[in-house]
Amino acid sequence: MTARIVITGAGGQVGRFLAGEAARRGREVSALTHRECDITDATAVERFITEGDLVVNCAAITAVDAAEADPDVAYAVNATGPENIAQACARVGAQLLHISTDYVFSGEVVSGEQRHPYDVGDYVAPLGVYGRTKLAGELAVLTAMPDAHIVRTSWVYTGGDGNDVVANLRRLAGTDQTVDAVDDQTGSATYVKDLVHALLEIGEGDIREPILHVANEGACTRYEQARAVFEELGADPQRVRPVSAAQSARRAPRPAYSALSMAMSVRAGVSPLRPWRAALAEALAQPVSDGQLPSTP
Ligand SMILES: NC(=O)c1ccc[n+]([C@@H]2O[C@H](COP(=O)([O-])OP(=O)(O)OC[C@H]3O[C@@H](n4cnc5c(N)ncnc54)[C@H](OP(=O)(O)O)[C@@H]3O)[C@@H](O)[C@H]2O)c1
Repeated sequence: MTARIVITGAGGQVGRFLAGEAARRGREVSALTHRECDITDATAVERFITEGDLVVNCAAITAVDAAEADPDVAYAVNATGPENIAQACARVGAQLLHISTDYVFSGEVVSGEQRHPYDVGDYVAPLGVYGRTKLAGELAVLTAMPDAHIVRTSWVYTGGDGNDVVANLRRLAGTDQTVDAVDDQTGSATYVKDLVHALLEIGEGDIREPILHVANEGACTRYEQARAVFEELGADPQRVRPVSAAQSARRAPRPAYSALSMAMSVRAGVSPLRPWRAALAEALAQPVSDGQLPSTP
C-alpha cells in the first residue's frame, strides 16, 4: 500500500506545491499548515504522525535576514522542530524527508582550490543564522532518526503568483522599472515543480544515502537569473543592472557561491534534474494563476 503523505509547513511555497502534486497523483495527503501543526510543539507533532506515513517537513524559517534578528525562533523552527518530527517518526515507524539548504555551505574558496558545485560530502560551514540553524536541524534529524533523508536544495522558485525571486521578477518585467540584481552570488536556481517530483521519487524509492542534493543543473548569478527571466518574457534584459552583494547591503551574509551538484545523489538513485534555464522557461510559460500552486492546501 502507498504511504499517506504528511506535509508539515504545507502553507509555504514547497509544501503547497507538494500537496497539490501528491493529491493530483491520487495520494492520500495530510497537508498541515503552521496554524494546524506548530512543529516546535512536540506533542502537537506526535498527534499527526502514524505508522507507515511518509512525512515531508517543509516547515522552516526561510527569511534569511529576519533569522539574524531572531536566532532563537530560527533555531526553534529549523532545528528543534525537525528534531521533534524525527523523534515522532522514529517512535511510530514513519519515513521522513527533511528539506535543507545550500546555505549550509560557506562559498569561500580555500587558497588554490577550484570552485565547483558542492556535493554531499563537502565541508559545511554556514555563514549566518539561517544556515547554522538549518545545519543544526540536519544533525538533529539524523541523530534521532539515522534512516531519515535530508534533501538539500537551493534558490527555489515558483515563478507563479508567489513571493519568490522569479515571481517578483516576473511582475517587474511587466513594468518599465529597472531592477538591481546581485552579480557576485552564484547558486543553483531550482524550479519547485522539479524539486517536488524529486521529493516524491525519493519518498517512493529505496535510496539509502541519508543526505541528498536536489537542484536544477548548472549555476547562475542572481544577475544572470534576472536577465534570463526578462529574456524569457520578452522584456529588455538591459533593464537589469548588476550590483554587488555589498551594495545590496542586506543584513545576513550569504555565500558567494553555493551551487549544488547532484552527482552523488544521482549515483544513489535520484533522477537528475534538467538544466536551470529549461526549467525557468517552463515555469514562465505557465499562466500566473493556472493552479500550479493550489491556493488551499
Ligand atoms: N525557498 C528557497 O529558496 C529555499 C532554498 C533552499 C532550501 N529551502 C528549504 O525548503 C524548505 C521549504 O521552504 P519554502 O521555500 O517552502 O519556505 P516558505 O515558503 O517560507 O514556507 C515555510 C513554511 O513553514 C511554515 N512555518 C514556519 N514556522 C513554522 C512552525 N513553527 N511550525 C510549522 N510551520 C511553520 C511557514 O508558515 P507561516 O508563514 O504561516 O509561519 C511557511 O508556510 C525549507 O526547509 C527551506 O529551508 C528553501
